[in-house]
Amino acid sequence: MNIILLGPPGAGKGTQSGRLVERHGMRQLSTGDMLRAAVAAKTPVGLKAKAVMDRGELVSDQIVSDLIDAELESMGPSIGAIFDGYPRTADQAHQLDAILARHGRKLDHVIELEVDLDALIERITGRFSCANCGEGYHDTFKQPKVEGVCDRCGSTEFKRRKDDNEEAVRTRMDEYRKKTAPILPIYDAQGIVSRVDGMADIDDVTAAVEKVLSK
Ligand code: AP5
Ligand code: ZN
Repeated sequence: MNIILLGPPGAGKGTQSGRLVERHGMRQLSTGDMLRAAVAAKTPVGLKAKAVMDRGELVSDQIVSDLIDAELESMGPSIGAIFDGYPRTADQAHQLDAILARHGRKLDHVIELEVDLDALIERITGRFSCANCGEGYHDTFKQPKVEGVCDRCGSTEFKRRKDDNEEAVRTRMDEYRKKTAPILPIYDAQGIVSRVDGMADIDDVTAAVEKVLSK
């Protein structure tokens, strides 16, 4: 199965992808994570992308499509793909069509996480993650069970994303409104879009996503 999780910054794409990976053994293809890894490793792509990402703007279409293509190349054909944060522009949507065709895959579902954009600022600016295993947490919504200790790996080191400040978040929201939301009609025309209430509790969102996948 191949699915796109679509929604603005902080909609819960990464959170829900993590659950699908655990439950179904699918692979999460997050262009944001791939780019952050490239920045950390100071690769040529990372060096190009860093300042653009810090401002909250979109990196070039070709760069992210190449990352997705390479990741699919490294996966067995039977492993399902969750596209998280990709495609984000009409050009990327068309590039994805070509990439999927080349890998003999087809899109099964596009799941739009519907959210209230204003409420997302709190979600994003409160977010942090384990510096060791990447498990995600939130100041208000999801603290570690033991304060200061990662539930999953026991690490006591946590980190925050550089683009999770209010100014960059507002730019990311604008980019979503202007460039990403307009790609939904492409998938609506194919009859593969399902809309899920992304403002519900995390578990309820997961249940709604599972319902779509079982269709
Ligand atoms: P990317 O990493 O994709 O960031 P984003 O789209 O801004 O999305 P986020 O990771 O912020 O949010 P999310 O929806 O995954 O939410 P999460 O589950 O973490 O992109 C970063 C940058 O990379 C871009 O700005 C751009 O520069 C570049 N880039 C990436 N892809 C690109 C592309 N295709 N083209 C061009 N450039 C690209 O949840 C957020 C928080 O809320 C968490 O703390 C979580 O615990 C909490 N939470 C989640 N769900 C709920 C819920 N239901 N109730 C309460 N809290 C919740
Ligand atoms: Zn951890």
